[in-house]
Amino acid sequence: VKRVLTGIKPTGVPHLGNVLGAILPAVELAQRSDHESFLFIADLHSLTVRPDPEALRAQTRAVAASWLACGLDPERVVFYRQSDVPEIPKLSWILSCSMPLGLLNRAHSFKDALAKGATADEVNVGLYAYPVLMAADILAFDADLVPVGKDQKQHLEITQEAARRFNLRYGEVFKVPDAVVDADVMTIPGLDGRKMSKSYDNTLVVFDDEKTMWKRIKSVATDSTPYGEPLSTEDDVLFQLTCAIQPDRRPSLARQYTTGRKNPELSGPERDESANYFGWGDAKKALLQAAVERFAEARERYRHWTTHPDELEDCLRHGAEKARHFARAVLDRVEASLGLSWI
Ligand code: ADP
Ligand code: TRP
Repeated sequence: VKRVLTGIKPTGVPHLGNVLGAILPAVELAQRSDHESFLFIADLHSLTVRPDPEALRAQTRAVAASWLACGLDPERVVFYRQSDVPEIPKLSWILSCSMPLGLLNRAHSFKDALAKGATADEVNVGLYAYPVLMAADILAFDADLVPVGKDQKQHLEITQEAARRFNLRYGEVFKVPDAVVDADVMTIPGLDGRKMSKSYDNTLVVFDDEKTMWKRIKSVATDSTPYGEPLSTEDDVLFQLTCAIQPDRRPSLARQYTTGRKNPELSGPERDESANYFGWGDAKKALLQAAVERFAEARERYRHWTTHPDELEDCLRHGAEKARHFARAVLDRVEASLGLSWI
C-alpha cells in the first residue's frame, strides 16, 4: 500500500478547472485500495501572504467543503487542516536546523518575490522557509508519493534533499518520498478562452448559485452568426466546457451546433421553425444545464457543509486526530535520533 500525500492551499472556492483537473482525479485515486491518502489544507502556508483573517477562515471552509462535496470520504482518507497538527511546525523547526541556506536561496517562490522587486523588509521569513514547512508536511507522514504540479517540483526536490541530508547525519530516520508530477491532465479553458485560472478572472465555479453561474456564462463573447445558422464548435469555449463537464453530450451537442437546430430531427411544416433554432444563447443554456446536472449532488453537499460549519470543523478535527497519531510516531523517531528525548 502506497501512502500518497497532498496539500491544498486555501485560496478560495475551487473553480471548474480545479474540480475536473485536480479534485476529482485525487478523490478517485483515494478510492483505490492500493493507496492510502493523506490530504490536508495548507493554511499555515497561506500565512506567508498575510491574508485577511475572515477571508482565511472562509476560504479554508470553502476548500474543505468542496473536497467533501466532490466525494472525498473522510473515513478512508486522512483529511485535516495543517494548523491542527502541531507536530508539523515542530518538525519544520527541526528540519530548518539542518537545511543549508544555499538550498533555500535557490527556491523559486523566494527568488520570484525578489525578482519582482520585493525588498528584504517585504519578504518575510515564512516565505523564505516555505519549502521547509512543506518538507515537514511530507516527512511527518512517511509519505511514499506526492502528486504535484510542475510548479511544486522544486519544493519536492528540496524535501528529498532535506531528508537525505538528515538521514546521512542521524541515521535512516526519514522516508525519502517520490514526486509524481502530473503529466498531462486536461486543461480546462476559462470563459475567455485562456486556461481557466483564478488569476485571469475567467473561472466558472460550479458551487456558485445558478444566477451567478448564469451571469458568468452569459458574459462569454461569441461571434455574430445569425440565429438559426450553423455555429462553429472550433475554438468555442462553450462547446469545450459543456463537453468537459458531460462528455456523453458531445455528439448531440455537435449536431446542434452544425445544424443550428435544437432538435435536428424535427422536420415537417413547422409554423414556428425559429423556436427550434439553436443559437449562442442556447449554447450558453446548455453549459449551465450541464454544470447544474453533473454537479447536482456535489452542489447539494457543498451547501450542506458550508451551512454547517460546526460539522465541518468536527470532520477536520477528527482527521487531525488521526493525522497526529501518524506524525507522533515519526516525531518519536526524530526526537530520539537528535537526543531530544530520553530514549
Ligand atoms: P489557479 O490557476 O486557478 O490558480 P491552481 O494553480 O491553484 O489554480 O491549481 C490548483 C490545481 O488545479 C492544480 O492541481 C492544477 O493543476 C489544477 N488546475 C488549475 N487550473 C486548471 C485548469 N484550467 N484545467 C485543469 N486543471 C487545472
Ligand atoms: N505548496 C503547495 C502549493 O502551493 C501546497 C502544499 C503545501 C503541498 N504542503 C504540501 C503540496 C505538501 C504537496 C505536499 O500548491
